[in-house]
Amino acid sequence: APVRMRAIRGQAASLTGNPFLSEGCLQHVADALILIEDGHITAFGDFSELSDRIPAGVPVTTYENALILPGLIDTHVHYPQLQMIASYGEQLLAWLEKYTFPAELQFADQAHAERVARLFFREILGAGTTTAVVYCTVHPGSVEAFFAESARFNTRMIAGKVLMDRNAPAGLLDTAQRGYDESRALIERWHGRGRQHYCVTPRFAPSCTQGQLDAAGALMREHDDLFLQTHLCENTDEIAWVRELFPDRASYLDVYVQSGLVGPRTVLGHAIHLSEEDFCTCHASGAAIAHCPTSNGFLGSGLFRLFDALDPRRPVRVGLGTDVGAGTTLSLLKTLGESYKVAALRGTKLDAVRAFWLATLGGAEALRLEDRIGRIAPGHDADLCVLDLAATPLLGFRTGTCSSIEELLFVLMTLGDHRTVRATWVAGEPVYDNRRAGDPLVY
Ligand code: GUN
Ligand code: ZN
Repeated sequence: APVRMRAIRGQAASLTGNPFLSEGCLQHVADALILIEDGHITAFGDFSELSDRIPAGVPVTTYENALILPGLIDTHVHYPQLQMIASYGEQLLAWLEKYTFPAELQFADQAHAERVARLFFREILGAGTTTAVVYCTVHPGSVEAFFAESARFNTRMIAGKVLMDRNAPAGLLDTAQRGYDESRALIERWHGRGRQHYCVTPRFAPSCTQGQLDAAGALMREHDDLFLQTHLCENTDEIAWVRELFPDRASYLDVYVQSGLVGPRTVLGHAIHLSEEDFCTCHASGAAIAHCPTSNGFLGSGLFRLFDALDPRRPVRVGLGTDVGAGTTLSLLKTLGESYKVAALRGTKLDAVRAFWLATLGGAEALRLEDRIGRIAPGHDADLCVLDLAATPLLGFRTGTCSSIEELLFVLMTLGDHRTVRATWVAGEPVYDNRRAGDPLVY
């Protein structure tokens, strides 16, 4: 088969390391060329130095007044909750009962699951997100619908069937054995197929019996490179409930540790109210935290201690999550703006380089996919998002005054949203272009 070659020209920026741990991690190229072959980046640098490597006959896609970034990475989101995003007035446990569980019950209907999966991909690709770590529902069909849609775009996605065998409506419960069997079948069908990865997904300790948590641990031991996602220490009532349900455990995190669920490729949602000892456990085990600022504000859950989590003495891997439908946007740009405000409310300052690291390379490191995604670099998957510096009159006016890449990035994370996304590329193919006539999505 012929090699698929692409050439993209424009201003570009990419992180090369963790700016919480060292200086000089931002690579900025004012006039860059990105060469792509068969979905992978083969060259990235100054246009003037690389232009003679553009193969004959390959057109150059040029983006003016733009900034090309690696595709953004959402480390925590619930696609079935799109239909109840923006539900009023409750904190976590009442919010789950009143809004979340009724919405997830509808995923017994396969056509509904397929409809919502389609909408989800439309929304995230339009927001510049190219990889996400995703909760489906307890229904295996919700996972099938999700991965089938992901495979159409060839996006690198991490997702799994929710495991829950207590404390929810009967229609949302499996059993330890059934959850294990259904997860195994989905792993065999989807894990490692193209760019799809399976994620074992016990919802959170209150909705899983000890037997179910242990079954999740068995799945993790029986397969290579599986991911695991769950929720941890999001809300004080939730934490008190876990203490009642698991009185013998040293902490909420210890509930998961004792079932073998905490290790590399574990993604813990929220982790707002975490002890120093728990941070040390995360560091030592290699587990990652998904920081979800819009959700934490919306549900009144609390303010994540980002700088404590990333303390250079025992840094914990941290990515950024939208956590829709408790989160209020699928835009990681907007989410970055909110993470700045959470840091500010804690008396700290989240600079734009660190922020964009969270949404790109930091997310990739949290998922141990830093050799494939999160950077614009030779050998990496060609997942890109292109921001339009004049997407709105105000943005154009403000970015026109920026005198450094750091200032530009800060303006983009503070004012940016889905309108700012000019185009999105997945594995070397343009999948979204906001100036395309009719439907901006390219199937
Ligand atoms: N804890 C358990 N389930 C959920 C959920 O769906 N959303 C959030 N934000 N927290 C949870
Ligand atoms: Zn969540």
